[in-house]
Amino acid sequence: MKKQYSFEKSVIFFLIIIIVSTFVFVNISCDIFIEKVVEKKEIENTGFEEIIDLPEPKIKGEMSLEEAIKDRRSIRSFDEKDLNLEQISQLLWAAQGITDERGHRASPSAGALYPLELYIVKKDGAYHYIPEGHKLEMILKGDLRKKLKDACLGQQWIEEAPINIVITGIYERTTVKYGERGIRYVHLEAGHACQNILLQSISLGLGAIPVGGFHDREVQEILNLEENYIPSLFTTL
Ligand SMILES: Cc1cc2nc3c(=O)[nH]c(=O)nc-3n(C[C@H](O)[C@H](O)[C@H](O)COP(=O)(O)O)c2cc1C
Repeated sequence: MKKQYSFEKSVIFFLIIIIVSTFVFVNISCDIFIEKVVEKKEIENTGFEEIIDLPEPKIKGEMSLEEAIKDRRSIRSFDEKDLNLEQISQLLWAAQGITDERGHRASPSAGALYPLELYIVKKDGAYHYIPEGHKLEMILKGDLRKKLKDACLGQQWIEEAPINIVITGIYERTTVKYGERGIRYVHLEAGHACQNILLQSISLGLGAIPVGGFHDREVQEILNLEENYIPSLFTTL
């Protein structure tokens, strides 16, 4: 009788061990699976995961502000030569670079709400500018300039210029405070950013042109932008 009882005890003990180990195994496998799914989703969301640290922008140039204002003209013919990273850094900094410790930027922004997101389109792909840390992240590979030219009513210089800076705005960031009037502010801010790029380009010895003639939706599709990223103005250099 005692032997029988001890046998049952062993079976129960054995079963408990099996149940606990199965539970632990399933739990660990689920965790690994969930981690993999989350990791994959993050990679999909951030595209190529290629982040470029831009060189430190210079705050002294060769030309006076007055000379840059006087010399600015819209240029529609360009050298094929790519801009280097120093030039790209300087242009993006002039548009949206962070210029003080509070996080305020080179261009003014209504309520300091910073609704603009900048993209550059060049021969090797499209990139998003990240003002925090002054970085670029690659979002698409390949030369999108021809497609962009088509979206810009066939304006040839979009395809020929080495770089297009696409200034987009997210209305909600500003309308949350200013209501409908915020929409106006977003486009005004795109103009401020564009003018800074234009003046900076003169000071770097580069030609540039603002381009406002394009189909918003087509530009969004080419750059794979979400619907609330509204293309406002290009600066083509
Ligand atoms: C908001 C805005 C949008 C513009 N869009 C275009 C455009 O789509 N295509 C173009 O060739 N020029 C465009 N321009 C450039 C103007 O044609 C140019 O500024 C004007 O002819 C004056 O010449 P300037 O810039 O050399 O002084 C645009 C300018 C502004 C301010």
